Amino acid sequence: MNIAVMSDSHDHIWNLRKALAVIRAENCGRIIHCGDFVAPFMFKELEKAGIPVHCVFGNNDGDKALLTQFALQSNGLITLDSLVGEMDMDGFKIAFTHEWIVAEGLAAAGKHHLVCFGHSHQYLEKQIGDTLVLNPGDIMGKDDAPGFCIMDTVTRHIRQLPFHNYSKSLITLMETLHFKAPWTASVKTATVLGCTVLLGLMGAGLFGIPGGDPVFRPVRDLPMIVFPPCILFGSMLFMIRGYELTKNAVYVKRLLWRTTIYLPGLTSVEINPAAMSTSFRTFGNGGLFSICGAFSNRSLGNYRAYATNPENSVVLRFKNRVVVVTPHDPERFVSDIHQLNLIQLKEAMK
Ligand SMILES: [Fe+2]
Repeated sequence: MNIAVMSDSHDHIWNLRKALAVIRAENCGRIIHCGDFVAPFMFKELEKAGIPVHCVFGNNDGDKALLTQFALQSNGLITLDSLVGEMDMDGFKIAFTHEWIVAEGLAAAGKHHLVCFGHSHQYLEKQIGDTLVLNPGDIMGKDDAPGFCIMDTVTRHIRQLPFHNYSKSLITLMETLHFKAPWTASVKTATVLGCTVLLGLMGAGLFGIPGGDPVFRPVRDLPMIVFPPCILFGSMLFMIRGYELTKNAVYVKRLLWRTTIYLPGLTSVEINPAAMSTSFRTFGNGGLFSICGAFSNRSLGNYRAYATNPENSVVLRFKNRVVVVTPHDPERFVSDIHQLNLIQLKEAMK
């Protein structure tokens, strides 16, 4: 598991947000904070990340009562110890504290594999006996570039991540971005016509079409009663109500569920209003509540579409597949993907 070790945020909420965005992108399972949050609102920011935080007081944490109250109200996300905290990650024993003198003593005792501390605001790795002592630097950036560390508890490899060069847009990695999926006129027309025809067929089956042999009427009418509502409600389930963009995926919002388009492996993203032109459908729905399914044309080859307005087409190219979505604001959608550095982010952080 990756764990993040940080310290001394000293009310620098902007750097803390950047750090938490990186920590989420790195799929860290725990955060250790070695103290000096200062204002209790920093706990609210830590809590938003949704990652369990283990922390201790620093010498500058004055409002201990409110910090304790916020920790107790965090639904178990924030575990706050006073002077020293301990964790055991599958046999990997970690202690954390604020001051060096305490960290040194803990390391000399030799009961932990890793002892973390803060206070000096300076990055340090030091071996004391069998114990590694780590100061992750500071989130505040008092003297040097702000930073923190990520440790892999299996390989025990530590990476220092000064994040002064990271884009401000990393903050938005913590958010889910929402896009509407307005219907084009052709989808509206197809839906109205399709519903009218299907409901008409069902009505004809229910109320009977005059004529024909009474013996064979049920055989003739039953398919008209059964199939039109199946097609209608089946298509309705696959309707597209919008899109959600996160750092990991685009979620296509359906009637009662979501289709996930995972973004790792994305190689390019582009706006192309003509992307779906002269396509033929190999599977799916061509306009009843949405344009969804497997399509093919000369420019894209085989592709998947989750569309309601082809003029807003955004083409997502992966190594082995092409997907088309049609958010209401394709420019912002593409910009947000680039802003989130979804394509380069993982590489940039290695
Ligand atoms: Fe401090």
